[in-house]
Order: sequence, then C-alpha cells, then structure tokens
Amino acid sequence: MEITVIHGQMHKGSTYHVTEELTKKLALNDSDIIHTFSLPQQGPQFCVGCFSCIYKGESFCPHASQVKPIVDAMISSDVIIIDSPTYCLEMSGQLKTLFDHLGYMYMTHRPQGIMFKKIGVAISTAAGAGAKNVTKTIKKQMFWWGIGKTYRLPVLVQAKSFSEVSDKIKQGIILDTDRLASRILKKVNHVKPRFLSKALFTLMSMMHKTNTWNPIDKSHWEQRGWLNKHKPWRV
Ligand SMILES: Cc1cc2nc3c(=O)[nH]c(=O)nc-3n(C[C@H](O)[C@H](O)[C@H](O)COP(=O)(O)O)c2cc1C
Repeated sequence: MEITVIHGQMHKGSTYHVTEELTKKLALNDSDIIHTFSLPQQGPQFCVGCFSCIYKGESFCPHASQVKPIVDAMISSDVIIIDSPTYCLEMSGQLKTLFDHLGYMYMTHRPQGIMFKKIGVAISTAAGAGAKNVTKTIKKQMFWWGIGKTYRLPVLVQAKSFSEVSDKIKQGIILDTDRLASRILKKVNHVKPRFLSKALFTLMSMMHKTNTWNPIDKSHWEQRGWLNKHKPWRV
C-alpha cells in the first residue's frame, strides 16, 4: 500500500501524533510506502493569483516545483491523509496555501481520474472547538478533487500540547485510530464514489462539452473520453 501524509504544521504535537497513530496501523508491511510532507517547509509559498495553473497548465505555476512532488505522491497513493491543528476554528494557513494551489484539479477544471478510487482521511485536533469544522473543510477539498471515499477524525484533546493530553483521551485516540484503520484497510481497492461525486462529474462533463472559455480544461476532458460516456471510476 502507498500512503501520502500531509501535515498542515511542522511541529510534532497532538495532531502529528494522532496522524502517526493511524498511519502506523495502515502501513503494516515492510513494502508499504509512505510519502510525508510537512507544511510550510515542503509546500508552496502563497498563491499569487496568476491563474497560470488554470489557464496555461499546472507546470506554469511559479511554485510548480514545490506543488508537483506532493501531487505526484497523491496520485500514486491509495490513501491520502491530511491533518491540521485547529487554529481559530479553521485549518492552518499553510495547509490552505497548499489547497489554493490545487484548484486546477477540482472537478470543475482538470480532475485526476484516479482520484475517484482513492481514500482520503482528514484529521484535526482542537483544545475545545473547531476540529469538526476543520475536518469538514479538508474533506470538502478532497471531494472537489474527486476522491472517492473520505473519513474524518476530529479529536478534542483539551490541551495545548501532546504532553498535556490526558491518558483517557490518549486511550480514546488509540481506540478511534484502531477502528478507523480497520475500516480503511477493508476499503482499499474497493472504493466506489458516492452519488454526489458521480452526479457532479456528469454535470461537469456536460459543461465542458460547450466549454469555449478554457481550451486546456476542455482537451483534458476530451482526451480521456469524459465528454462521451467514459467515467473514470469504471476503468
Ligand atoms: C493560534 C492558535 C489558534 C487556536 N485556535 C483554537 C480554536 O479555535 N479552537 C480550539 O479548540 N483550540 C484552538 N487552539 C488550540 C489547538 O487547536 C490545540 O491545542 C491543538 O490540539 C494543537 O494541535 P498541535 O499540538 O498539533 O499543534 C489554537 C491554538 C493556536 C496556537
């Protein structure tokens, strides 16, 4: 199995530890590959709003050399885990910065067909409130990339650092990650996108049939046969 882990922070706090707990329960074989990226160090700088990725191609992004290795790892992985601490009820700024660079692969533009067969996991920790919202917004990004199945793991740690997290909560993290890992392991290679993903994809294919505003988006859909009956999840 191949896994991409994107940490929306550099430090090894509660969020990192929850993600590590889950990842070690998924990567059970020596042959498993884990690609890890920690933001902002291994991510792009702020999006400059040039629209190059959308209208010229992602290789024209001024930060393409930082974005491409992350996207390549995601494309080759079975499971994509993305985490962030909860900051002011939202995800970290560095994670949002990465997401801003991935708008070109939204279903509205040039989704990667292989995403429909992938599993996404959104993880966040919060001292009190907001982790659910953060995992929801990470999941929303994954949905727009076409990811077939996404799980959320929001954790209320009631602490500002992992060393302050109580034993009871740590025990809960072990149980939650046990449960989630077994659900994910059963799902690998058996992902079927839900109705809403398929409906949106079909709507986008109808839109791109008459697309005169973005030739590279249109040819992306044409080349893959998506303007006819071809569906990426049926390959
Ligand atoms: C700038 C900042 C903003 C925060 N905002 C929230 C918040 O909105 N809600 C909350 O419950 N905790 C908030 N916290 C606490 C963290 O979300 C919480 O301690 C989390 O577990 C930290 O994860 P980490 O150890 O991976 O950094 C905030 C912490 C910081 C540093």
